[in-house]
This record gives sequence, C-alpha cells and structure tokens, in this order.
Amino acid sequence: MKISEVRVTFAPGGATAVVPAGELLLGAAVSAGLPLSAPCGGRGRCGKCKVQILKGQCSPVTEQERAVLSPEELASGTRLACQALVETDVEVWAQPEQEVVGKKPLEDHLLEGLQADPVVKHAVVSLSKPSLQDQRSDFQRLCDGLQGVLPCREASPRALWALPRVLRDNDFRVAVTAREGRLLEVTAPGAAQHPLGAAVDIGTTTVVAYLVDLVTGEHIGSGAAHNPQGQHGADVISRTEYAKTAPDGLGRLQREAAGVVNQVLGQALSSYGAGPERLYEITVVGNTCMHHMFLGLDPRYIAEAPYIPVNAACMTVAPGDVGIRMHAEGRVVTLPVIAGYVGADTVGVILATRLVERKRPVLAIDIGTNGEVVLWTGERLLCASCAAGPAFEGAQIEQGMRAAPGAISAVDLPDGDLHITTIANQPPVGICGSGLFDAMAVALEAGFVDMMGRMVGDDALDSLPPSLARRLTGEGPQRRMVLASADEAHTGRPVYLSQRDVREIQLAKGAVRAAVELLLREAELELDDVEEVLLAGAFGNHIRPESALRIGMLPPVEADRVRGVGNAAGAGAMMALISAEQRQLACSIAQTAQHLELAQRPEFQQTFMETMLFMEP
Ligand code: FES
Repeated sequence: MKISEVRVTFAPGGATAVVPAGELLLGAAVSAGLPLSAPCGGRGRCGKCKVQILKGQCSPVTEQERAVLSPEELASGTRLACQALVETDVEVWAQPEQEVVGKKPLEDHLLEGLQADPVVKHAVVSLSKPSLQDQRSDFQRLCDGLQGVLPCREASPRALWALPRVLRDNDFRVAVTAREGRLLEVTAPGAAQHPLGAAVDIGTTTVVAYLVDLVTGEHIGSGAAHNPQGQHGADVISRTEYAKTAPDGLGRLQREAAGVVNQVLGQALSSYGAGPERLYEITVVGNTCMHHMFLGLDPRYIAEAPYIPVNAACMTVAPGDVGIRMHAEGRVVTLPVIAGYVGADTVGVILATRLVERKRPVLAIDIGTNGEVVLWTGERLLCASCAAGPAFEGAQIEQGMRAAPGAISAVDLPDGDLHITTIANQPPVGICGSGLFDAMAVALEAGFVDMMGRMVGDDALDSLPPSLARRLTGEGPQRRMVLASADEAHTGRPVYLSQRDVREIQLAKGAVRAAVELLLREAELELDDVEEVLLAGAFGNHIRPESALRIGMLPPVEADRVRGVGNAAGAGAMMALISAEQRQLACSIAQTAQHLELAQRPEFQQTFMETMLFMEP
C-alpha cells in the first residue's frame, strides 16, 4: 500500500478496497465490489447512500449532509457516501445490497401458443460413412445430410476443427447447431447439448435474464440483479450526464451493463447446470438509454431535444463487442427502439401482450423507473413516454426502498386504523412501490390528503377514530402519515409517507395519467371504448388496481378491466428469441408505432395540471 493510499473496510460483509486518500466513500464502495445505491447521482440530495463510520476519519460533514441527515444520525457517525472523502483507514457499516425480491415476474402464459422457431436451429443427423466410392469432404457430407432439415452453406472454423473427430467418435450421428445457414457447432447427440438462449431485460433499476432451451422453447431458468449503474443515479438522465462528463463515463457504464448481464446470465445458467458456451443467442430489451449504454452507443443526444438515438433498428453484435460471456459464435440481438424515450422494452411489451392482434382498443402502461403508455386503437399504435421518474420505485420517496424483506408492500384501512404488510413479514424498514400506491390510496381514503395534495390540518381529523387520527403527525413540510412507529420499525425510526412524498407521487401519477388522456384524445377515443388496461413492469402484478385507480394514475375504469401482465418487456424479448417471426414483428412494430412528444403539445400543461389533482372516485 502506498503512503497516500488508505484501506476502507465495509461491514458487515468485510469487503475491502485500497483507494487513494481523498476518494469518496461511494467510489471506495465500488472498488470494494459493493456498489451502493445512489439515486440522486451523488448530489447529496436523496440520502439513500447513508453509511456509518465505525472507525477512522473522513472529511468534515458537508452542507448537503446537514440538510439530509438528522442531528442524531450525524452524532452516530452517519454520513452520505457521496459526500464523505476518506482521509485515513476507515471501517464503515453499509446496508448490504438488498436481495431482488419478486422483481419482474415473467408471465409464462404470455408465451402460450407460441410456435418455437428460433433463428438458432438444432438438428441431429445420421450420415452415411465415407468410402473410396464416396470421398466427399466431411463438411459436404454434413451439408448433404442436413438438406431439407437444416440447410448449411458455411461453417465456423471452430465447428470445422471439431467436425472430423466428432463424426468418427459418434459413428457419423451428430448434433448440429446453426444460424442462418452457418454451422456453429457440432457435437455428440443428446438432450444435454441443446443450444440455449436467453432473453435479457436491462431495466434502469433491475436486470433480469430468462434462460430458454432453444429446441423446446421451454423457459428453464432465470437470474436477476440490481443494475450497478444505480451508483451514478436512479434515472437515465443522471446516468447520461455521467456518460457525458465523467472520464471514461460511457465506457464504465457499458462495462457495468455487460457485467450485470453476465451476472444474471451466470445465475440462470448455473441454476440449470450449464456453462456460457451453451448460450448461442441472447435478445436484449431496455429503454433507449439502457440499450445505448449496453451497446456503448453515446446516449447524450437522447437526453437533449430533439432526443435522437444513435440507432433505432434491431442490432446483432458479436459477444466480444459488448463483453458478454457466451458461445464464441453466439450473437447478441437488441430489439429495436421506437424513440429516444420509448425503447426496446416497450416494443417487448407490445409484442408480448399481442396488442396489435386485438380487435378493440387497449391501453398498456409500463411502469418502471420510466413510464411508457401505449394505446392500440384497433388500427393505430400510439405511444408516449412520461416523466414518471423513479418515484414509484422509491428513489425519490423519503423512506422508499426496493422490494426487499421489511419493505411495506401493502397498506389497508380495515377498521378505524391502517394495517401494513411487509415483505417476508419482517419488521418494517421502508416502503416499496406497491406499498406506496396503497399508502397514498389510504391517505386519500382517510381524508389525510386533500384534492390539491396537501396533508390536512389537525382540525380536519375530528371525525376520525383516534387510532387513525394519531397517524397524521408533524407540521407544514414535516407533516407525515406514520405507517409504523419507531417501536415497530426495524431501524428504530418511524416509517411514514411525508408531504414531500405525496408531491412526488402527484407528479408521477399525473404524468402517467396525462399521457393516457392525451393518447385517447389523439385517437379520438372515449374511455368506454377501451376494452382493457394492461399494467406491465416491475409493479404490474403487485399494484392493486384499486389503489392505482384511487390515486388517479389510471383513468376511472372498472377494476376488472385492469390486468397486470408482469414483465411483459422480458416476455417480448423471449418471444423474439424463440420465434424468428416474432422478431420480425418486433421490427415492424417499431417502424409503425407512432410516437407522440407530449410535452410539446399545447394542451399538455393544462392536462398535466388537471391529472395531478386527487379527485374523488
Ligand atoms: S445523497 Fe448520496 S447519492 Fe443521493
């Protein structure tokens, strides 16, 4: 260790990094392989990168830290990792990376009836043996034997290296894997050699992989992890800024994306007992920024008007070009994007929900870190993005957290008091997305929040049972609805929905609803014309439709016309993996979808003002 270097040890796991003195704790955590969540991109605003200094010395507490941390927290050595510079060897307690719980469930039924016809094909053939009368080359013999089964015209050198041995070791009965006329691999026959593929959904927050047997089309494994780019900000704008301004920013984001994709592929493969050499193709979806960062394409022109992507078309690249571990002849295929803020994930949603096959109008809303709304009118496909922001994923919510043990996932108002449910029945730690929707709905139901989004004063609580009225505490900006008291909470601090949280929810739900209203207006449709409202994304299956309706994120339809479709983006990626026809369809969807730039519309501001209100049901 050089004189100017210091050692940073992270409890409870003991991860260690040796970094130059003066390095941010956030950077040290990355070096230690423990990327912390940093939703505000290290600006010292969100307070989500809290750590506690157990030993050693860091730079003095900053203004931002004084604004975000309570006096008790400061007294106990709590710091913001994005603000504190390491001065000596230190020992730091950092919240371990939360397990990815219940994220992005795949609705396998979306794939029902899909004919497996992948681009990567596999066949087993028995060939006649060579003789003095039949001196065809091994490859010619194989091509002839594959006629009408799996036409091959060329071969990878790797396949040719193996061919003579494999043919003779297996009595001229071999298994062949090929893509579009190119022989990729030749092996002994047997189910264990089926080529595998994976559909990957690179979400801003979570990355998932679904492993598929490319012969049977069966979904055989999954992997999921948090997107490590979260250390540069929860939203795509912060990350794009990082790509623009940090030294090697884009390179770093690309490597982080590739790293986490390798991680989730590795999880899925090892759960199936296979190695990366069995993986011949992966299809990738993600919003346009994630798509660009994964491919190493400069996202800066997406972030600024007029929001232009580098390439919107479907791309096929070699694994080495993007750092993915798979068969050397494998290919990484990214689905097309529609616009700067309507990405390949939306194409996946449209594909998986078979939207364009529907006779009557259908709305599909993908709620994730970004929001996208798609309206199929029966003839036209209209889509728009909305600045829902990461509020629903908890990043801008004071006690928001990912879906992990201890997250409040549901809030009810059964009989004169509210009742919370936490993931894994653990003592409450914070609120995740589904709990946030419920908490907001309950706050409205109890009369704690008025139409304008203001938490009401004590005088408005007289008619409520005392057990419920006592939930609303504090004054002015400190007003809050307490979901769990300090005694009940895991952290010893109450878990609550604050006035500021209500404002964040108002902005997010107003943005989604404004997009819905403007798309309907553009299509000259009434709400009654809409047959179904599909909710896709991480929360799709977790949000109670009643809560989404109560807070006004969804237009007032009957709750049974709202249906969660889980991670439809991932299901769409899987369809494009399993079926060449569906992949083709994905391309035509991207070309025919009509993107509306809502914020440019004269009626947008007025609509947004209206949709931010909390109206009575
Ligand atoms: S306060 Fe540190 S990342 Fe937001």
